[in-house]
Amino acid sequence: MAILKILQYPDERLHLVASRVDVFDDALKTLVADMLETMYAAPGIGLAATQVDVQKQLIVIDFSENRNDPLAIANPRIISTSGKSTLEEGCLSVPGIYETVDRAENILVEAQDIEGKFFEIKADGLLSVCIQHEMDHLKGRVFIEYLSRLKQTRILARMKKLARERM
Ligand code: NI
Repeated sequence: MAILKILQYPDERLHLVASRVDVFDDALKTLVADMLETMYAAPGIGLAATQVDVQKQLIVIDFSENRNDPLAIANPRIISTSGKSTLEEGCLSVPGIYETVDRAENILVEAQDIEGKFFEIKADGLLSVCIQHEMDHLKGRVFIEYLSRLKQTRILARMKKLARERM
């Protein structure tokens, strides 16, 4: 397993659109294992392949206390939504920023597991918001892009400062 590099906003590659996973082979399982290791090490509760510069519709999530209940989702598609949730979100590609975004409270998602088997996820609360956040990444969208222009400008300045400090 390996810890992968997480792209940092405003890296342009965060805006690339992922394509469907159509081969469910050992390479995919290795990618999932690497993404989980990367997410646990960060630490974070969700990671989209886009964030590690792989343009595949693949997401890993785990917000269990003991970090031992991973969920890997390929090719997620929202079938239905209802209600409205405003939970604070963070993102490993935009460290230190926590903001609330309007999301659906309940979602029904059809997806495939790492064997390619189709399954449905009925989610609410944190899981629902987390899936919607990660699915946005697959479309090239970062959560702060829902915020006001002013907030985005401030966040951009902060991220550029962080990038300079890393060099
Ligand atoms: Ni994110």
